[in-house]
Amino acid sequence: MLRHVVDDLYQIGESLSGANGWHEAVRVYVLLNDGNPLIFDSGSHLHSGQIMSRLRELLGDGQPKHVFLTHTELPHTGNISAITKAWPDVHLVVSSGILPHVELPWWVTEDQVRFAYAGTTEAYAGRDIAFLDGILKDQPGTHWMFDGRTGTLFTADAFGYFFPAEADPRFDDELENGVPMDWIRQYHASAFRFLPLVSGAKVSDDFTRLFAARDVRVLAPTHGNAVRRDVPRFVGKFQNAIHEICQ
Ligand SMILES: [Fe+2]
Ligand SMILES: [Fe+2]
Repeated sequence: MLRHVVDDLYQIGESLSGANGWHEAVRVYVLLNDGNPLIFDSGSHLHSGQIMSRLRELLGDGQPKHVFLTHTELPHTGNISAITKAWPDVHLVVSSGILPHVELPWWVTEDQVRFAYAGTTEAYAGRDIAFLDGILKDQPGTHWMFDGRTGTLFTADAFGYFFPAEADPRFDDELENGVPMDWIRQYHASAFRFLPLVSGAKVSDDFTRLFAARDVRVLAPTHGNAVRRDVPRFVGKFQNAIHEICQ
């Protein structure tokens, strides 16, 4: 799959089918960035052929400059070896020195890695990218990125949703009533098994503060399609789902 989201933001990636006809997306996002492309997570090794074909289709003769890794689980990093083989000059941007050198030892050389720290903003190939600690994560060291130009928040495992096959290629504005709350609830209850032990009010407050502090116009989750039309509506449904799942 290759779809234009907004401005110079594109979405790539496939999905996996699970029980009872529900599907889970494994997406990769690309900012074309005036000929200096930036890639957000690498996708799964299971989809390497499709991802590399779509990346080549999108980039043409262009060379990606940086791949931002949210965390090191295989759906997010499994395709890194194919990317670094195709474009050996690409740099990986990670949140912690432990991650690339302990968890990606066969794929990564020291000079390929850049470190980014939550709470900072840095220019990559001329584009300011802000880094945040992931509020909802399944692996320590997970960080999120924010691109102010498109208003896109790259949220790794948060804001995903399960969906029936026919919704695979559709953004929120291409579904009759947006993404249903039940799809969001089912995904988060499965992806974050600890949530029933957590205060829903606390999680909800953290997200309210996050969205008060930034003008987020697009959500880019790995396990769902980009939310590009109505972020507040989607976040409202997410907040309701959190209250149902949490304490
Ligand atoms: Fe994860
Ligand atoms: Fe994931």
